[in-house]
Amino acid sequence: MTTRHPETTGRQLGRRSWAEPWKIKMVEPLRITTPEERERALAQAGYNTFLLRSEDVYIDLLTDSGTSAMSDRQWAGMMLGDEAYAGSRNFYALEEAVREYYGYRHVLPTHQGRGAEHLISQVAIKPGQYVPGNMYFTTTREHQERAGGTFVDVIIDEAHDPASEHPFKGNIDLAKLADLIARAGADQIAYVSLAGTVNMAGGQPVAMANVRAVRELCDQHGIKVFLDATRMVENAFFIAEREPGYEGRPVAEILREFCSYTDGAWMSAKKDSLVNIGGWLALNDETLFEEASNLVIVFEGLHTYGGLAGRDMQALAIGIAESVSDDHIRSRIGQIRYLGDLLDGAGIPFVKPVGGHAIFLDARRFYPHLEQDQFPAQTLAAELYLDSGIRSMERGIVSAGRNPKTGDHNRPKLELTRLTIPRRVYTQAHMDIVAEAVEAVYASRESAKGLVMTFEPRYLRFFQARFDRL
Ligand code: F0G
Repeated sequence: MTTRHPETTGRQLGRRSWAEPWKIKMVEPLRITTPEERERALAQAGYNTFLLRSEDVYIDLLTDSGTSAMSDRQWAGMMLGDEAYAGSRNFYALEEAVREYYGYRHVLPTHQGRGAEHLISQVAIKPGQYVPGNMYFTTTREHQERAGGTFVDVIIDEAHDPASEHPFKGNIDLAKLADLIARAGADQIAYVSLAGTVNMAGGQPVAMANVRAVRELCDQHGIKVFLDATRMVENAFFIAEREPGYEGRPVAEILREFCSYTDGAWMSAKKDSLVNIGGWLALNDETLFEEASNLVIVFEGLHTYGGLAGRDMQALAIGIAESVSDDHIRSRIGQIRYLGDLLDGAGIPFVKPVGGHAIFLDARRFYPHLEQDQFPAQTLAAELYLDSGIRSMERGIVSAGRNPKTGDHNRPKLELTRLTIPRRVYTQAHMDIVAEAVEAVYASRESAKGLVMTFEPRYLRFFQARFDRL
């Protein structure tokens, strides 16, 4: 077996290189189902892993969102909840944490990331404007389109190639961005929608040099840059590892510097920040903040809680500080690379380099005999569940939805099945089981027949669509 990341897998250096910087204090039993039970459960779920009951799942790699284990300190923080309607002390703790670690001036809590996406889209997009970004994300684009914007993908071409080993596949292609500005006119650009570790590209990072260059270009045209900071701590880890001038620097420092090139951010705190619920919108601009701070009351709750309980804001404030610990982030990414190395050794096709939050299996190369209309990535998620009770998620044509103008399927180049690793939840033995299951499904890949969609919801169809076997 090849070991591609000795510094994080610890294989060649022994266990001195890294291990989880915590021990386990409380456990939750898992249920192992029979093949017959899984066959029944999956058929009932319309071959969509989002529609399975979690009790029918053995190892749950659906998402890293809201699935983290909180620390004893975060749980202690829950007991400090100040459940006042207005001006809760936990809000000020959250505001201070965002200011200290992300560096933005004004902070609004929201119930989760898409609450903040809704607000930023409503206050910063005028109907008809373009919103260039480094690859779409499902909920982000949905809110941009609802506000009357048109998303334009300006990520570098390498991001669409699962085999490219470019170290910063999340980078914006400055020529594509400059070209859009020239064609549309700067006043027709709402803002640049920049995401850290690009989810749909495989958790691929953006370089500091790239955000700096984007800032410079946007300054020339008076265009704002807003950041999807959801997995920005993971992005900072890759900068510390790969970018000249940043080697070995603390991720907390890198995070602050990166955010300093942007005008604000929206956050799904359910990822990096190690909480089960929560988000925020942060803005430096007074006028935009005032508008958003008024609008938050309509959709989320008062501007000092935004849909969160006081205890949730306290756990989040503590989680933010824990998330930028270098030991934490090294073991977080180390675990994903451990799984990646096992799969690589078995010749399984997946997106390289291994990204921040998941392994993205390449369903096109898994099932070269299936057309994209037969939903290869959805099929792979179904087969993996049937084999072992492991739950994964489709990130291909189903997730990409339809073009709102033409009604056709969007057809992404990437047809991926995501094995998403929750933070501080599963052990190395679980990763071994996952690798064995993927290998078993790979061994029987030629028998996979694909799926047909039998029910298609109007919005974000991947969450609730139903399928049948072909
Ligand atoms: N931005 C990114 C990059 C995300 O990955 C997500 C959620 C959101 C915004 C929206 O945040 O879920 O808190 O409303 N991603 C989850 C996932 C659903 O599984 O990747 P939310």
